[in-house]
Amino acid sequence: MKTVITFGVFDQLHNGHINLLRASKELGDFLIVAVATDLYALERGKLCVADTLQMRMQNIKNCGLADLVVAEEYEGHKIDLIQKYHADIVTAGSDWQGHFDYLKEYCDVIYLPRTEGISSTKLRNQSYPKIRLGMIGNGRIANRFLSESVLIPGLEVSSVYNPHTMSAERFAEKHIGLQVRSTAEELFAETDAVYICSPHDTHYGYAKQALESGRHVLCEKPAVLKKAEAEELFDFAARNSLVFMEGIKTAYSPGFLRLIKLVKSGVIGDVYDIDASFTRLTEAGVREWQDRQYGGSFTEFGSYVLLPVLKLFGCTYDEIRFDSVLTENGLDGYTKTTLIYGNQTATLRTGLNVKTEGQMIISGTKGYLHAEAPWWKTSVFEIRHEDPDRKERYCVPFAGDGLRYEIADFVCRIWGCSGRENRLLPEESITMAGIMESFLQKRKPG
Ligand code: CTP
Repeated sequence: MKTVITFGVFDQLHNGHINLLRASKELGDFLIVAVATDLYALERGKLCVADTLQMRMQNIKNCGLADLVVAEEYEGHKIDLIQKYHADIVTAGSDWQGHFDYLKEYCDVIYLPRTEGISSTKLRNQSYPKIRLGMIGNGRIANRFLSESVLIPGLEVSSVYNPHTMSAERFAEKHIGLQVRSTAEELFAETDAVYICSPHDTHYGYAKQALESGRHVLCEKPAVLKKAEAEELFDFAARNSLVFMEGIKTAYSPGFLRLIKLVKSGVIGDVYDIDASFTRLTEAGVREWQDRQYGGSFTEFGSYVLLPVLKLFGCTYDEIRFDSVLTENGLDGYTKTTLIYGNQTATLRTGLNVKTEGQMIISGTKGYLHAEAPWWKTSVFEIRHEDPDRKERYCVPFAGDGLRYEIADFVCRIWGCSGRENRLLPEESITMAGIMESFLQKRKPG
């Protein structure tokens, strides 16, 4: 009996896929179709897969050509699957010519003619409307947002608003096609969604206004600085079928998603401690030093270091303690945050005028995870054990500036791709807002 195996994402199953499956089946007696998981597809740079793994696998089962449908979960899984099922032939479309030659060590590799004129990308563009997005604010991150947003086919960034119109005009001059709007209302009138990257304390007002105008909102971190405000916005969005999402890029990146999954699977046993730092030496004159009320290192970087803690320990902690080194303008140049959850602890460091190693260590009863700096652009991490020679190393791509992952997730959520996991839960953003609130209350001068 000849076993044939083929690999792919198979989003929006189409005729090109069906032709490939039919031709593959004709080469042998038993056809296995390995479908990339949502996370593995993301790792491979497929940013906007519309159907979930379950739907994609079910569609292949329904077409009746496959004898077995399995999930492909990680780099190197192809070899494991070929060996597990004793596959004789691997097939792929001719667009992959040469790409799978490394598998010839294990079986035959046959490239079949790709069906012209059809692809999942084309179908997604046809089935989902283009989303017009307006930007509120045009600070440093706005440039990075724009250059990453062009990678998301379903999105068109059309306009920008900043109450300092001249600043918005200077920004728009550098970005062809971007229109400056003189009020937020004007911007809402011609867009479906907004990206808010204005100063922290203005987020709540703009987000509320945008949601009330029926616009989806992606809001830079920290989304808001008060728990009640976060609760109100998430509640309003949910009641009105709108997406309200906090832009913490790490939360949507494939490396971080894999890291959390791995720790939750128990590879390092029960987790007792998280130690994470995010410091960046920052020159005077920028917003985080100038904004005497809301600047400082914790409001700037706290969202990143809190993220793994809330993901792994949850949103209900027993104690939180902040130890800050304040500068003469009353802002924290450095903050050490300690969280206690029963027997579990976390130590987090953020710094604007103090530099430390930007790593993360998650300690458990069977071993620990060490994520290399900059861990928030999660890419390289190791699981280490008592025996220092026993290490498992993971290298997951973190492409470009990483904003593409959160933008893609925002687009998919607006499209309403059902069954997708929520990569940053509302309660996590709400808890972070509450923590920001307690921090600011404590830091208040006098
Ligand atoms: N395929 C094909 N003909 C097409 C489209 C895909 O033969 N018109 C083949 C690919 O070469 C691959 C398999 O189907 O071997 C799965 O491809 P996948 O990447 O899932 O589909 P695409 O339509 O190419 O997806 P996208 O547009 O997202 O790249």
